[in-house]
Amino acid sequence: MAGVCNPAFRLIAKEFGAGLVCAEMVSDKGILHENERSLKMLYVDEREKPLSLQIFGGERESLVAAAKYVDKNTNADIIDINMGCPVPKITKCDAGAKWLLDPDKIYEMVAATVDAVQKPVTVKMRIGWDEDHIYAVKNAQAVERAGGAAVAVHGRTRVQMYEGVADWDIIGEVKKNVSIPVIGNGDVSSPQEAKDRMDQYGVDGVMIGRAALGNPWMLYRTVQYLENGIIAPEPTAREKMNICMLHMDRLIDLKGEDVAAREMRKHAAWYLKGLPQTGSVRNAINQMTTREGMNKLLFEYVDQLEEVQKIS
Ligand SMILES: Cc1cc2nc3c(=O)[nH]c(=O)nc-3n(C[C@H](O)[C@H](O)[C@H](O)COP(=O)(O)O)c2cc1C
Repeated sequence: MAGVCNPAFRLIAKEFGAGLVCAEMVSDKGILHENERSLKMLYVDEREKPLSLQIFGGERESLVAAAKYVDKNTNADIIDINMGCPVPKITKCDAGAKWLLDPDKIYEMVAATVDAVQKPVTVKMRIGWDEDHIYAVKNAQAVERAGGAAVAVHGRTRVQMYEGVADWDIIGEVKKNVSIPVIGNGDVSSPQEAKDRMDQYGVDGVMIGRAALGNPWMLYRTVQYLENGIIAPEPTAREKMNICMLHMDRLIDLKGEDVAAREMRKHAAWYLKGLPQTGSVRNAINQMTTREGMNKLLFEYVDQLEEVQKIS
């Protein structure tokens, strides 16, 4: 997830049991122009492996060249191609979800990438462009014929953006029609849902996105449920804030305190989600500029909450 899945969060996801973590998408042109920000996004901490690095682009030459760069210069285990990003800035450049309209292009681009690199190449796609152009099966078959190693399918069209619900029936159709692993994605928000989707649609894995924001326990609890049938308890407020601060410390190591403090505002709000009486702490988070300030604020909130819980 762009703006989220840097090594700070990915390492936490890993520690909470994720089988494979995926990095935020990186522009092929950004890599080729050696843009500092793009190259930093290719950094992989050994502890987060196996890891998939995702690139996006609209033209064959630059996409393949960027894939070669990732192949030679990073310790990622997988090169993933983005065919799902719905944002106009990306689709206007024939990148992201734009490919979904053209299975021949998908074949050509994936085949050229697979030929050029050593690492396995996978694809992350949406089911189609809009409800009149749902080529999920054809597109996944094109990936398979081109030598793609696996495909992850988000059950929405490009036009849906993040609205409506993910259509898992179409993900199930993809699974029935290719023999490479299919990872289903979209709206998995509990361990039981993850298991139900796997049982019902036969997918080889589920990809969990938004439900893990501020909630890596979602990953841990899902793994526990899939492996042992146990629903582990939800974390306490204090446990949540401990991980939130670990996240912040790792982000500070990565980006420095100023940038990390700004980026942690959204993460802290996600870590607080579902907890009671968060109105004023949420407002205060948006003014935070230091680690010290964030730490004090979050744990004062927890102390107060625990006091109230003791009394009631
Ligand atoms: C903030 C945000 C950033 C995202 N960035 C990416 C990305 O860089 N690459 C990608 O393939 N999908 C990206 N996605 C889409 C997710 O991977 C996923 O397909 C989508 O959120 C649906 O899954 P979920 O319901 O589990 O969140 C992003 C989603 C969000 C909310």
